[in-house]
Amino acid sequence: MAAAPAIIPSHMKAWAYSEHGKSNAALKFHPNFPIPELNEDQVLIKVVAAAINPIDYHKIVGNYKGSDAPFPIVPGYDVAGVVIKVGSAAKKFKEGDEVYGMVEAKDVGSLAEYTTAQENGLDHKPPNLSFAEAASLPLAIETAYGALHKVGLSAGQSILVLGGTGGVGNPCCSDCQTCFWCFKGSSYSQYWKTGIDEEAGG
Ligand SMILES: NC(=O)c1ccc[n+]([C@@H]2O[C@H](COP(=O)([O-])OP(=O)(O)OC[C@H]3O[C@@H](n4cnc5c(N)ncnc54)[C@H](OP(=O)(O)O)[C@@H]3O)[C@@H](O)[C@H]2O)c1
Repeated sequence: MAAAPAIIPSHMKAWAYSEHGKSNAALKFHPNFPIPELNEDQVLIKVVAAAINPIDYHKIVGNYKGSDAPFPIVPGYDVAGVVIKVGSAAKKFKEGDEVYGMVEAKDVGSLAEYTTAQENGLDHKPPNLSFAEAASLPLAIETAYGALHKVGLSAGQSILVLGGTGGVGNPCCSDCQTCFWCFKGSSYSQYWKTGIDEEAGG
């Protein structure tokens, strides 16, 4: 028997800002924020976990006004959650799928109970990752992969990753060997004594 469709409320809890400024002053809790509209190539996600990246607080401060959505803005690019509604042109996911990925800058972000994302910005959550682990990955991994691609890393080369324990540095250490067949990645971090960076492939 097919599962009953999820009941989608008209409003949700969300964090949002209506003016730029320091995040502790600008970011406010909204108990009745409208549920985002779903475009045909998107899915509506019940958010289970979200992550904040440096770009989020740069945008709250007002450093990227050119890419701002209209106020009030819900921040958050990274999301992991469950698909509860599928747009008419979306084909990759069905209701109930566990997904992770990135929300578009113009859309309601992931610091909310519900968010929308284009299906080409999402993938199925690997079963061996928790929602929190999955939500921590998308933007940082994309940045790491893009950086390694940009420097033209190729098989057999070596690379030194500064800040190998950081959000971007950590996937740099693993991507350089798994995606670019790098001979050896080394990293430097103030936490080098913990061995975290070495476990990540450094
Ligand atoms: N996160 C993203 O998705 C993303 C996307 C685009 C661009 N970026 C940019 O990428 C950079 C890193 O972001 P992140 O999210 O990875 O930040 P993060 O998680 O805070 O990591 C910062 C890393 O830099 C290291 N570090 C800080 N100060 C250092 C110093 N003085 N000497 C050596 N290492 C130092 C830290 O090492 P310790 O932990 O040992 O202090 C840590 O490993 C930022 O400039 C950010 O704006 C990030």
